[in-house]
Amino acid sequence: MPGDALSQDPAELRRRIDSSKAHPARVYDVFLGGKDHYPADLGAAAAGLAANPRGYLDVRHNRDFLRRAVTTLAREDGIRQFLDIGTGLPTAENVHQIAQRIAPESRVVYVDNDPVVLAHARALLTSGPEGRTDYIDADLKSPAQILEQAAKTLDFDRPVALCLVAILHFVEDAEAYPIVRELVDALPAGSRLVLSHLTEDLNAENVRAVQRTYTERGFTFVLRSRDDVERFFAESGLELADPGVVPVHHWRPDHAAPVPEQPEESYLAGLDDIEKVRYKDINDVTDADINVYGGLGVKA
Ligand SMILES: C[S@@+](CC[C@H](N)C(=O)[O-])C[C@H]1O[C@@H](n2cnc3c(N)ncnc32)[C@H](O)[C@@H]1O
Repeated sequence: MPGDALSQDPAELRRRIDSSKAHPARVYDVFLGGKDHYPADLGAAAAGLAANPRGYLDVRHNRDFLRRAVTTLAREDGIRQFLDIGTGLPTAENVHQIAQRIAPESRVVYVDNDPVVLAHARALLTSGPEGRTDYIDADLKSPAQILEQAAKTLDFDRPVALCLVAILHFVEDAEAYPIVRELVDALPAGSRLVLSHLTEDLNAENVRAVQRTYTERGFTFVLRSRDDVERFFAESGLELADPGVVPVHHWRPDHAAPVPEQPEESYLAGLDDIEKVRYKDINDVTDADINVYGGLGVKA
């Protein structure tokens, strides 16, 4: 039954949440202007921002890449099923809201292994009546489990867009490439892979400084080159769609990134740097800012 993951015992869920340490989903939430994080996550985000003061652009442009990719898939490619692994905390525009605005019958299965994402997953189960959403509490490192549970909602005889957006840098090579291959192998012809990934190709000094702040906090943080990212597509037998693997702000830009509503000047002046991030307009991005590659692959 969709929503099974949400029936978890609240006491057990609380036991799984370690608020004393920063966690990727919650640090990411800080940069997206969310509210679902703890002081340790704020501390990690602030350290990351001190290491790279325009680093919020990586996060926000990564999310905007996801918006454009899902829009393209739903509007131009006729894709009606999405498997979004490494969903992150619910935000203003989740995959089902983007897809169902174009095609209300779209089905989306979300997967994450963070108990805080699970605790907030109800906000992801808000499908319109013609479509469906489900949430799976699982680890990317268990692809067979994910595929089995996703099949309750998705029809694996029809194309599926697998979204692995800003998640593979948490997985070492020995596991990452075989996992992507196993997931793609389970999808029928016409399926897609949407993938984004941090890199040190573009602005090595900035991104290494950020990497240090996160590895000090116990995160696995694998940076991959453009060749490494292209390998995910090639080894899984996928053709890259135009424009290939590029910095995310160059992937089919539509210059429609939402600009956050601005508070009073006096209120803004009283905020610290990390609190100000939520109000930043990201349309002033330059090539010197972005450290994330994105691409879309098609299964023949
Ligand atoms: C940086 S966030 C990206 C969120 C969203 N995909 C986006 O790009 O906007 C990475 C997400 O991947 C999740 N994650 C990391 N490792 C994971 C794993 N092994 N299995 C499942 N989820 C994982 C984290 O909990 C987090 O929510």
